[in-house]
Amino acid sequence: MKKLGIIGWRGMVGQVLMEQMIAASDFKHFETTFFSTSQIGEKNPIDVANSNPILGDAYNIEQLKKMDIILTAQGGDYTEKIHPQLRTSGFKGFWIDAASTLRMKNDAVIILDPLNKDVILRALQKNQKDFIGGNCTVSLMMLALGGLFKQEAIEWITSMTYQAASGGGARHMNELLNQMKFVTDKVVSSTPDQSAQILQVEKKVKNLLSDPAFPRENFGAPLAFNLLPWIDSELENGQSREEWKAGAEANKILQSKTLIPIDGTCVRVSTMRCHSQALTIKLKKDIPIDEIESMIREHNEWVKFVPNTKSETLKFLTPEFASGSLSIPVGRVRKMNLGPTYLNAFTVGDQLLWGAAEPLRRMLHILLEQ
Ligand code: HSE
Repeated sequence: MKKLGIIGWRGMVGQVLMEQMIAASDFKHFETTFFSTSQIGEKNPIDVANSNPILGDAYNIEQLKKMDIILTAQGGDYTEKIHPQLRTSGFKGFWIDAASTLRMKNDAVIILDPLNKDVILRALQKNQKDFIGGNCTVSLMMLALGGLFKQEAIEWITSMTYQAASGGGARHMNELLNQMKFVTDKVVSSTPDQSAQILQVEKKVKNLLSDPAFPRENFGAPLAFNLLPWIDSELENGQSREEWKAGAEANKILQSKTLIPIDGTCVRVSTMRCHSQALTIKLKKDIPIDEIESMIREHNEWVKFVPNTKSETLKFLTPEFASGSLSIPVGRVRKMNLGPTYLNAFTVGDQLLWGAAEPLRRMLHILLEQ
């Protein structure tokens, strides 16, 4: 049985991963040690099959080295500190990671097996050992459009994103709630219908957003009653790092010979854990819309093709529908007035499941198959 070491199981992505692994009875395949950065030597609180009853030391290279597989959702700082030390110490095991630190390294593979199992298997044959989860927005877009990528139908894509608070982390989600409460506590009066005074109410809302007591420590700005069209750091070419990742990571995932340009604007909106994206897809040739629908539908079992009607869209093509589920709704699929090779689409996906935890969990199964 392979020895699996898990780090970062208490964080948000880690918790989602644990839930998924327990639901799928994954632990029966491994001898698992849970490592901790703060409660070393204490009792392991996760009661799963074949697990070490004592928490290991997440900074102890000798302990980590005994593992066949390290799976971490601890974050980039941990990876940056521990991964080089562990490899220098001679660790030959697999390193599976949710953080972005190693993603673009030459000897690391970005894992999204419904799109790139062939790339993953080739890397395993070549004895590569670092397998890294992709950026959430990129993974969700690629699952949605898997059929079009597979058929090499795409010339380029623009993606305009609507990204949830969870992309920032647990504290950001909590801050969004507090921002909403800060405002609504003060403006939603005991009279439920304020329509007649709504312009005065709106002014109050605007003023509250710049109140010194308004909670903004994590986002640095109001997200509630607002949106933030910048995610991650600034690059010199005017893109945000999040926007850069779309093209860089998608092409690395596919390892295709011809690069597909992907660019757009990434926007934080006040949803909790689902990222949405409005896509303009330039097709290489005019493909009939029913064929496009089949390509999208048939690529993988998680895509939920949503017919382009108002009622189906409002029911299924929303964060409300996709939250907490592996389902990837894809809809608003139609040819645009720009011409027959311009396709419009909209997609939604749970940022913590397919966007983070699920590709890592599936990589464990790929290793079991070896
Ligand atoms: N960078 C993403 C976001 C989340 O901020 O929404 C992690 O992939």
